[in-house]
Amino acid sequence: MGILKIDELRKTFSSGEVEEEVLKGINLALKEGEITALVGTSGSGKSTLLTIAAGLQSATDGQVLFDGRNLTGMSQEQIRQIRASKFGFIFQFAYLVPFLTVEEQLRLMLDVADKRMKKTEQQQEINQLLSFVGMEHRKKAYPTSLSGGEKQRVAIARALIHKPKILFADEPTASLDSKRSNEVMGLIKQLTEQLHIATLLVTHDEDMLSYADRIVKMSDGTVL
Ligand SMILES: Nc1ncnc2c1ncn2[C@@H]1O[C@H](COP(=O)(O)OP(=O)(O)OP(=O)(O)O)[C@@H](O)[C@H]1O
Ligand SMILES: [Mg+2]
Repeated sequence: MGILKIDELRKTFSSGEVEEEVLKGINLALKEGEITALVGTSGSGKSTLLTIAAGLQSATDGQVLFDGRNLTGMSQEQIRQIRASKFGFIFQFAYLVPFLTVEEQLRLMLDVADKRMKKTEQQQEINQLLSFVGMEHRKKAYPTSLSGGEKQRVAIARALIHKPKILFADEPTASLDSKRSNEVMGLIKQLTEQLHIATLLVTHDEDMLSYADRIVKMSDGTVL
């Protein structure tokens, strides 16, 4: 039984008269401590699947079960709470807030996930995770002074600082060279195992598939 279960998921986009079924009955389960890689040609529906699984957009039909609870039947506020406290996100670009230091980016996420955490405890968690991703020495730095690989390491720390159950990563290495890509994927792999996270990784980079525990291939809205 996976922590996230996707059942007969369908998504149709309509523009005017034209209806396009982008997801055609997808079934998928994510397990804790494992990276599931989602691959497939451009436009096959990978990002649509990831965003629906993460509660960022709704499905046309089917179910997304998180820890046995049906996301599709929840209110926007209930979904928002699960997203903020149980899910983490990384994308192709780090999207750091330009006017916050590295440690402030992480503190912001802790405040969003749980406002009751003590400041001293927050700082401990932040220092520990930044040290793990090799960025503690830059915790007072602003994003403009970081390299692409460093930004992505901060983005990983920010995605995981609140100890989510699921990590959604949509092409996290697409803007990095192969050395940085391997560093970033190595970190994602280690953290997935150590923190017992279920990671859904969308990637175009064949070299990154060696980090995956399972590879799921999508084609034209279906899983092969
Ligand atoms: N909001 C939307 N409205 C209409 N069509 C959409 C919308 N979002 C996605 N689509 C269409 O759904 C299809 C799947 O898109 P999606 O972004 O999921 O593909 P993808 O597999 O992630 O592709 P890529 O590898 O290029 O990122 C595409 O044809 C896209 O144009
Ligand atoms: Mg995509």
